[in-house]
Amino acid sequence: MCGIFAYLNYLVPAKRKEILEILVNGLKRMEYRGYDSAGVGFEGTNTKNGSHELKTIKQKGKVARLEEEIAQTTDLDFEKEFDTHIGIAHTRWATHGEPSPTNSHPQRSDPSNEFLVCHNGIITNYKDLKSFLITKGMVFESETDTEVIVKLVKHISDKHKDSAISFRELVELTVQQLEGAFSLVFMSSKFPGECVSTRRGSPLVIGVKSKAKLSTDHIPILYSKDHRGLMNPALHHTDSTTEFHPIGNKEVEYFFASDASAIIEHTNQVIFLEDDDVAAVQNGCLTIHRIKRTLDESATREVTTIKMEIQQIMKGSYSSFMQKEIFEQPESVVNTMRGRVNFETNQVVLGGIKDFMTEIRRCRRLLFIACGTSFHSAVATRQLMEELTELPVMVELASDFLDRQTPVFRDDVCFFISQSGETADTLMALRYCKQRGALIVGITNTVGSSICRESHCGVHINAGPEIGVASTKAYTSQFISLVMFALVMCEDRISMQDRRTEIIQGLKNLPSQIKAVLETDEHVNTLARELYQQKSLLVMGRGYNYATCLEGALKIKELTYMHSEGILAGELKHGPLALVDKAMPVMMVVTRDKVYPKCMNALQQVKARHGRPVLLCTKGDTETQKYAYNYVEVPQTVDCLQGVLTVIPMQLLSFHIAVLRGYDVDCPRNLAKSVTVE
Ligand code: F6R
Repeated sequence: MCGIFAYLNYLVPAKRKEILEILVNGLKRMEYRGYDSAGVGFEGTNTKNGSHELKTIKQKGKVARLEEEIAQTTDLDFEKEFDTHIGIAHTRWATHGEPSPTNSHPQRSDPSNEFLVCHNGIITNYKDLKSFLITKGMVFESETDTEVIVKLVKHISDKHKDSAISFRELVELTVQQLEGAFSLVFMSSKFPGECVSTRRGSPLVIGVKSKAKLSTDHIPILYSKDHRGLMNPALHHTDSTTEFHPIGNKEVEYFFASDASAIIEHTNQVIFLEDDDVAAVQNGCLTIHRIKRTLDESATREVTTIKMEIQQIMKGSYSSFMQKEIFEQPESVVNTMRGRVNFETNQVVLGGIKDFMTEIRRCRRLLFIACGTSFHSAVATRQLMEELTELPVMVELASDFLDRQTPVFRDDVCFFISQSGETADTLMALRYCKQRGALIVGITNTVGSSICRESHCGVHINAGPEIGVASTKAYTSQFISLVMFALVMCEDRISMQDRRTEIIQGLKNLPSQIKAVLETDEHVNTLARELYQQKSLLVMGRGYNYATCLEGALKIKELTYMHSEGILAGELKHGPLALVDKAMPVMMVVTRDKVYPKCMNALQQVKARHGRPVLLCTKGDTETQKYAYNYVEVPQTVDCLQGVLTVIPMQLLSFHIAVLRGYDVDCPRNLAKSVTVE
């Protein structure tokens, strides 16, 4: 929902101007996570009495507004140099309280800014905590759930004012009182140059940049005293209150972020925190703590070298990330198949699940669980999955699946499809199925994400970072990943070899066919010009192309704010036909596959109501094109892959309509890229 970023420089001199630039740039990289307000908190000196104090600048709107506000703030000494400094920053997507400077983060403990916090997630028991803190005399100023966190730290700190409690211990005591999901980063005027961060259910990654070689690539976890006295001595092997691991005890810079894309331009050495880890930096040393150890958990956190390139997250010559990502699809689908599909031998190997294939083949049924676009990728491939696996296949929206408390069994295999790997509904459905003993397979685009880490095995779709809020290239890569899985499932079935060969050869031709579809861009733009002032757009189709209708309509809705509906053409006469007249814009996907005659019936029904259908049809199919008011052609491929090609004109159309309507294509209103709350 929100993006957290923090920068800590230890013995690496930096001017205030540079520090603020690093913070603001970090937020810009994560703006896709939320963009209704933003803020920074940083260390400074009180000009009157010379004491250490924390300052904040917060602004409603996108990060660019915050940047302007910083530039206009007159009492900032931009040239002042800091040897050691901590700054924290946040870009918000409102859940509690409207977008406003007061509701923006950092939230503060009191008017003197003794403690500041940035938060991503949701605190479900904030009302109880707030009532408690009010009885203790705390005065709340925002409508956020986050404010209780920082007020609680202050309350606990005041209670321990006569003891030498560390910043990290204060945070540990605080988070033990919190329910819900969070990643948090704290700073305090009481603890200059120190930073404490932690997570539970929301992502958090730490980047380390240092000239000196890191002394280890595995950071041992330090187990803290359990402040509630629940410590199990058998599991507790270090009291960390005085011990620091010597990582970064020289000149070092640390970056804390919700997503590695905000860190990659500074360093590729990162540590992904696990739920309930508490990371603390004091005197330039990073330590990672947990309250107590359970038997099966790892006792270290690895320093991972990530391979993301900065060019991958820049827009290049495109006007928006979404446009760039649409046009990247000829390469992103190749990356999804690279090293997995052998077009000569017709072999498909998915390294991330190969050791689990025997178990998967023996299962009772396959469940595919996801939200939004990721859900549509499962709809798109369900028919093929049923055909090639001959197993019952359930395709589920994560929220509904949980609402129904759907029965799940030990011999089920459950797939969780998620671009971000952090979607709260999908993640909770994963945990629900895991508890019931099912095998968990993650299909994600984000290495190190929660879904990745909590799955037993998985497939990384390798589409590269997707920054535009509307998912495009991740959809086609999810689609292909699921097709590859279906192919693996039937590799030993003699009766299916011809079908396998046909599909694998179809996969081989997809990149060049996608390029051909992208060449329709100009024509689609002309169509967009005809449609952009309309209020509504119906998208109809059936069979393998039904998912294109759902996904096309979702793209239109989220980017253009027009009403749009994906309609199964078989359902037309059961209601939706009543919407059709000569004024209602209708798109119909009619390609040459088994349901072609039925799609033609639907087309006739629309024509009979004076509808003016725009067709997405097979290249050169003049017979069908005769009935069209207008049409966009896509090359013919194998029936089950056709949806990869038919969805692209819908992506282009929604993009162009949004541009014509003057909307922000990368950041549609009210939406965020990573939906880490229910
Ligand atoms: C639509 C879109 C969303 C996401 C959904 C799930 O363009 O992007 O519908 O598909 O929020 O997100 P992930 O795939 O990250 O779990």
